[in-house]
Amino acid sequence: MKHIITALILTGTLGLARAQTAPDDSLFRALGGLPVIERVVQDFMDTMLADARIRHTFDNSNLKRVQQKLVEQFCQLSGGGCVYTGDPMREVHQGLKLTNADFNALVEDLQLAMDKNGIASRTQNRLLALLAPMQRETVTR
Ligand code: HEM
Repeated sequence: MKHIITALILTGTLGLARAQTAPDDSLFRALGGLPVIERVVQDFMDTMLADARIRHTFDNSNLKRVQQKLVEQFCQLSGGGCVYTGDPMREVHQGLKLTNADFNALVEDLQLAMDKNGIASRTQNRLLALLAPMQRETVTR
């Protein structure tokens, strides 16, 4: 009985310790924090807008807004403590009728932007892994 109580107390204490631990910001730090995320997103937008495969998708968009929301999103996803204030991914993209080819083009453009900013490939892959599930939400045809 004593052991069970000890175990319960321990579990409770560990649970509390975990809740109090700071959220994992290791990816945010590996990326180089907000200044680097801002530069990556700027280069990402420039690359997409120069990319004949997908630039037409932005014809009717508020580019400044998209850029700001991407910074928030990447910062939040990587544990940087930002809050994404944009619209849900499915809602934003459903009218665009995007294909898997469009999605792959976007990923390539993001990789180029991260290369340009000297981000290590394992760090790039960590961010891409967090974005991968959004393929289902953004590609609708
Ligand atoms: C992981 C995949 C993607 C992510 C994380 C992402 C992220 C975002 C974000 C955060 C916004 C702004 C939302 C807002 O304004 O509230 C946005 C808008 C937009 N995205 Fe994506 N996106 C993805 C895939 C794509 C793809 C594959 C394309 C086209 C090739 C695309 C084209 C656009 C366009 C055109 C807008 C502006 C829509 C509008 O003006 O209403 N996105 N995206």
